[in-house]
Amino acid sequence: MGPSLRSLGYRIVAIANQKGGVGKTVTALNLAAGLARAGQRVLVVDGDPQGNLTLILGRRPVPAAGDSGDGNGAPSRARRPAPRDLAGLFGAIAARERVPVSDFIEKGVRRGLDLLPSRNRRMRLELGDSDILAAAPGFASLLSRLAERYDWIVVDTSPSNGPLERALIAACQAVVIPLEFQLFSVSGLEAILAEVRECAAAFGREIRAHALVFVKAENKVGRVEEYRRVFSRFRTPVFEICKSEYVPRSIERRRTLWEAAPASYAARDYARIIDTSFLG
Ligand SMILES: Nc1ncnc2c1ncn2[C@@H]1O[C@H](COP(=O)(O)OP(=O)(O)OP(=O)(O)O)[C@@H](O)[C@H]1O
Ligand SMILES: [Mg+2]
Repeated sequence: MGPSLRSLGYRIVAIANQKGGVGKTVTALNLAAGLARAGQRVLVVDGDPQGNLTLILGRRPVPAAGDSGDGNGAPSRARRPAPRDLAGLFGAIAARERVPVSDFIEKGVRRGLDLLPSRNRRMRLELGDSDILAAAPGFASLLSRLAERYDWIVVDTSPSNGPLERALIAACQAVVIPLEFQLFSVSGLEAILAEVRECAAAFGREIRAHALVFVKAENKVGRVEEYRRVFSRFRTPVFEICKSEYVPRSIERRRTLWEAAPASYAARDYARIIDTSFLG
């Protein structure tokens, strides 16, 4: 099972895998909301410019594709203050502006849960690699400072491996890796583990590959033991979240599993990770 994050003193956690559609956002959402439900103070960071997590938790809408407006209905081309979201925050840090970080955070999107939203799909284009890289150390120290106000900071990331993902992973102390329960997930896992090691080396910090979470697990396949053997060589605790129709259904309704289906097997599986691997 391995030591819990709490016993290690780590509380800034990225949910990452460069592969798309493996359950990162669902995992970030339900781990963050589950920790909040357990009485913890939690900040969840939507680190994906697509804004999927913001769409579920945010109070204001994510602008439609092609619109770089700020979600307030402000016209895209008008002069306006930087939007209060992840892109605005990175831009402000890169421009060395004094950053009142609490302005960027939506408080109490759920009880005990705050959100740093993403509303700008064009973040990478508008900021460019150099600004994102320039902001990376400032963003990391900002998250460390925020960790004094929260018990946990959970960071969702996008299926990519550019400067933004590096900046996000480098700002975290541990990484939880969602994977699909398939043998070809091995190469994806090797890639993200290498990325975590490179981030740690480049930014001169320790980042722990804390847990592998196999989402959409189907026990009836009868191969679980075989997969467990294959993945045991990575010496990282393995968890499973069963495949459940409640997951897509809850997302469609912009609900967490704790709100939509607290008695589901998938909720039970996320609760197990929280109890053992985070709080244990
Ligand atoms: N345990 C589960 N059972 C059934 N479906 C699931 C489960 N977990 C995730 N899904 C579904 O898998 C799809 C992908 O999930 P999610 O959006 O969390 O992946 P992602 O890794 O964040 O994707 P992206 O890389 O595009 O950001 C969604 O449709 C989600 O509802
Ligand atoms: Mg996602």
